[in-house]
Amino acid sequence: MPDLTSRRPGFANLTRQQRIDDIKSSLPDLPGDLSSLMDTGAIDPDLVNRLVENAIGVLPVPLGIATNMQVDGRDVLVPMATEESSVIAAVCNAAKRCRAKGGFYTSYSGSLTIAQVQIIGLTNPEAARLTILEHFDEIAARCAGLDPKLHEIGGSLKDMEVRVLRGRTGPMVVVHLIVDTVDAMGANAVNTMAEGLAPQFEQWTGGTVLLRILSNLADRRLARARAVWKADDIGGPDTVERMLIGADLAEIDPYRATTHNKGIMNGVSAVVLATGNDTRAIEAGAHAFAARSGQYGPLTRWERTAEGDLAGSIELPLSLGIVGGATRVHPTAQLCLGILGTKTAESLARVTAAVGLAQNFGALRALATEGIQKGHMALHAQNVAVAAGATGDEVEKVAQSLRASGKINEAAALAELKRLRG
Ligand code: MEV
Repeated sequence: MPDLTSRRPGFANLTRQQRIDDIKSSLPDLPGDLSSLMDTGAIDPDLVNRLVENAIGVLPVPLGIATNMQVDGRDVLVPMATEESSVIAAVCNAAKRCRAKGGFYTSYSGSLTIAQVQIIGLTNPEAARLTILEHFDEIAARCAGLDPKLHEIGGSLKDMEVRVLRGRTGPMVVVHLIVDTVDAMGANAVNTMAEGLAPQFEQWTGGTVLLRILSNLADRRLARARAVWKADDIGGPDTVERMLIGADLAEIDPYRATTHNKGIMNGVSAVVLATGNDTRAIEAGAHAFAARSGQYGPLTRWERTAEGDLAGSIELPLSLGIVGGATRVHPTAQLCLGILGTKTAESLARVTAAVGLAQNFGALRALATEGIQKGHMALHAQNVAVAAGATGDEVEKVAQSLRASGKINEAAALAELKRLRG
């Protein structure tokens, strides 16, 4: 067979069926049935084509509901989209165990979104900095005109920071437009403003504007959640102690902090994805925030209360929207927002932070006690059974046998399947 070429002139102009046929003819040995790609499930096929270039299909991800969540005194069902077996189960469990203490209490710093404008070629960067600051009112008025829709829903330029930075290529002025984007994630709104203001910045400073883009380090858009788990509800004082020591490692060691935060993002990203928000923006912001002191650290903090219970808290940037983008056009995302009963980006961010904390509680408790593999692999057993070829009733039968034997691997699944089939 000739070597595959990735050059596909005109691929973008083909229909989806033609693209699938094209791939099939180039890769005749592909396992599986490519025709299933034509089924786009809940998403309108036209929308799939509009959302991404060269679309061939959709990749469905399981969507589940985290139960037991109580946030600021309100019970809420939280949709989560994830392929990782233990994620939703961990949140349900953690949320159940802190209900005795009222569940999660949250706060939000406001929906302030930052756009950066980089100005170079300045002979007097310090004077340029002040010149820009002098024009705040005019800049605010221009911003309102550049995105009248945002202005209509109450969004506006709230603040401005201007810094002089010195890079390897020379000095530069960096303007931060700090915009209240209300219920929008805000990337489009602030990017429009940053681009629209460039000519004025050049005129006022005599410099040249280069980059104009939002910052995903959304540290003016922080969501926070806290909860208390009674020692008796989580295994007693010894478990509290072990969890505190486990959490301490994340405070002092970036190798552990990265995994600790990965677990938090298992929960956070699952809500972000379910609601059609931008998972990469949230991940980038969270990790940069975790490194803000200069050393990468955990997004949660764990303490013992005066009563000997376990208190957890989380603070992280959450640029989430409930209007615009995929959130608005994706029917499942709309449905998920409906299930959440959320009417504002703020309430979505608060619940999402609570899910992150719940997730971290679940991981820490498992790690500090029986270890992660027991629960994780028990849930994973069904996947292993399917991978070994089990279908229908066989899946749970094989999974049960794997759990009972404690050997959750493909070889054991194959052996059990062979036995079952006689
Ligand atoms: C696995 O996806 C997530 C954990 O590694 C998180 C953690 O270690 O805290 C279990």
